[in-house]
Amino acid sequence: MLEESISSLNLKRGAIVVDATFGGGGHSKEILKRILPGGRLIGIDADTEALQIGAGKLKDFEGSYILINDNFRNIDAILNREDVKCVDAVLLDVGISSYQIEDGRRGFSISHDSRLDMRMDSSLAVSAYDIVNRYSEEDLSEIIEKYGEERFHNKIARYIKEARRDKPIETTQELAQIIRRAIGYRYKNSRIDPATRTFQALRIEVNDELGALEEGIKKAVFLLKQGGRIAAISFHSLEDRIVKNLFKGYKDLGVLKIITKKPLQPSREEVIVNPRARSAKLRVAERA
Ligand SMILES: C[S@@+](CC[C@H](N)C(=O)[O-])C[C@H]1O[C@@H](n2cnc3c(N)ncnc32)[C@H](O)[C@@H]1O
Repeated sequence: MLEESISSLNLKRGAIVVDATFGGGGHSKEILKRILPGGRLIGIDADTEALQIGAGKLKDFEGSYILINDNFRNIDAILNREDVKCVDAVLLDVGISSYQIEDGRRGFSISHDSRLDMRMDSSLAVSAYDIVNRYSEEDLSEIIEKYGEERFHNKIARYIKEARRDKPIETTQELAQIIRRAIGYRYKNSRIDPATRTFQALRIEVNDELGALEEGIKKAVFLLKQGGRIAAISFHSLEDRIVKNLFKGYKDLGVLKIITKKPLQPSREEVIVNPRARSAKLRVAERA
């Protein structure tokens, strides 16, 4: 939904835009094409490596953008430091990038065997390893239920607790095997790996993804100029619910006008080319 999200921002030459999830720089590049000459892009990403790699795509636009390694939940402080009072548009394309999933060292994916990590920002103190090996059975069960929407959360938490009695659970494959054993035959006919929901839950907990999304949107809305737009692309129902409820709350207060009555979803063609996009939802609102 690259094209849809960019056009939904109603960008004009000279606009100041925040790409709060810079990732591989794909959206930023398209934004820059529309706001130059005269415009300015502020790209934010919690992942240093993403910024380094993505910056390579913006060589033609030197001097028109800055990249900042931070969490977008600090968008107010970031803009303040850059002496930017208000902006024309903010884009949030949340979750992890394909690059992060495919990077075997980061521990995001069930398909790679790597140390349990899952930190987008490698300076965070707590990784998936710490959560899996140190959280109580009750806390594990709660996050797997809440953030993974996993029915078998109790059983998975119990199996994890039993498995780590002998030795710490070190890798993604060890954890995935424990989860598959806990769920057993129940997922035999499932299209997705039984460990997917638990992995999602751990990732959300490690990076406090939902807390950051809520804080980031709440701050971004008040940094928009009148008529400025905010677009949020989310990848699962927990994120989409936060975006939807915040937008609605600000609409009721007269702060935002909702542009997408229903969220936009990728076309069938896009899902065929990029199956990971299948659950993406784009919501857009405008500062009243
Ligand atoms: C789906 S990717 C974005 C892809 C990007 N739009 C592109 O065109 O390449 C999400 C990116 O947002 C970053 N991210 C997720 N949550 C973040 C947060 N709270 N603060 C800063 N960056 C975040 C991730 O590190 C990842 O690089």
